[in-house]
Amino acid sequence: MNGKPLVSIVSAGLSKFGKLEGLYAREIFALAAKEAYDRCPKLNPKKDIKALFVGQMGESYEHQGHTGATMADWAGLLHVPATRTEAACASSGAALRAGIYAVLSGLCDTVMVGGVEKMTHRSTAEVTEYLAMASDYPFEQWNGITFPGLFALMATAHMNAYGTTEKDLSMVAVKNHYHGSMNPKAQIQKEITLEQALSSRVVAWPLKLYDCSLITDGASCIIITKPELARKYTDTPVHIIGSGQASDTIGLYERESFTSLKAAKIAAKQAYEMAAVKPEDVDLAEVHDCFTIAEIIAYEDLGFCKPGGGGKLVESGETRLGGRLPVNTSGGLKSKGHPVGATGTAQAYEMYLQLTGQADKRQVRDAEVGLTHNLGGSGATAAVHVYRRA
Ligand SMILES: CC(C)(COP(=O)(O)OP(=O)(O)OC[C@H]1O[C@@H](n2cnc3c(N)ncnc32)[C@H](O)[C@@H]1OP(=O)(O)O)[C@@H](O)C(=O)NCCC(=O)NCCS
Repeated sequence: MNGKPLVSIVSAGLSKFGKLEGLYAREIFALAAKEAYDRCPKLNPKKDIKALFVGQMGESYEHQGHTGATMADWAGLLHVPATRTEAACASSGAALRAGIYAVLSGLCDTVMVGGVEKMTHRSTAEVTEYLAMASDYPFEQWNGITFPGLFALMATAHMNAYGTTEKDLSMVAVKNHYHGSMNPKAQIQKEITLEQALSSRVVAWPLKLYDCSLITDGASCIIITKPELARKYTDTPVHIIGSGQASDTIGLYERESFTSLKAAKIAAKQAYEMAAVKPEDVDLAEVHDCFTIAEIIAYEDLGFCKPGGGGKLVESGETRLGGRLPVNTSGGLKSKGHPVGATGTAQAYEMYLQLTGQADKRQVRDAEVGLTHNLGGSGATAAVHVYRRA
């Protein structure tokens, strides 16, 4: 493909992220779809959108399955082929990949891809249990490990191998809360200090409250089309020029490494090669900071620094807005929030805003090339996409 557009994004929508009391997932998805339609008046959703792929992690939250058809109905797309993709927290990264398959196959010209999750009406204990279903049942869940616990194991391995510190982890949180303070759709729109992060209560050592992503309600979507049709709908499309997706063992204990995620490295390699882009060409990235250690490992897996250099990279300020490579300008999962099924396409939404110059206070100047990195579980799924301003 060599850097040629695979598909083009012609519109995008995002609900507010947070505690959306009194709304069902379907209503939240409808809010995201409405924004995408409002942004693109030349598109006739009922006529032009030929399929929906929608990521959702779990039925348990609302005791509701059959998500594809439900979301199609509430997005005004009744009767289109509608399919739910499930890959834990990478469910909508996988939806995006499925949408790209649909367009590239020639079966569909234009499709909607998105994701949704409604979580906050459940107790933290319930949410922790539902999330843990994306880890290995016989060996991980059965022994009581949770996602904060799994990522804490990666953090201690990283500290042991490279000398990464609790301060390095907290710096990720401070940066992402700073970015989130400028995002009107973020769940927590306030800055925090390093001291606050470091002294917050321990969840699974070394991870503390501010090292964890939030429990969130939210939905996201983007509309993608064949590159040659994009200008029919908008003067400012964003091209997706690289797509990678890979899997790994569901159990963390079976992996070659605890300090790096092989699926993410494979997905990144595929996406970079397809896009004919190198890590140093990337102007901004949205990475899967489900826990602060995951952002540090992402820097390394994506080639933004050498293995073990992630802590130093965040400390250098280069990944903060105004730095060489701003990461998680949306606030990331840490401050914008993490409605798990919606996260992958919420990252694509931020990329769409940034590469069309619509990110307001958090706009990265002259951004040309962006990247999204979406993980499922403890890294058994990874989806990486590379974007270019048209
Ligand atoms: C960290 C966690 C356990 C905290 O849950 P909790 O102890 O029940 O916290 P509460 O919901 O009672 O919230 C208490 C306060 O902390 C805040 N808070 C909750 N989680 C927070 C987080 N992750 N970061 C910052 N603040 C947080 C709440 O807003 C609330 O603030 P308030 O008192 O000003 O209203 C929970 O957010 C969590 O499980 N996060 C990880 C989710 C996850 O694993 N996702 C999948 C990743 S693979």
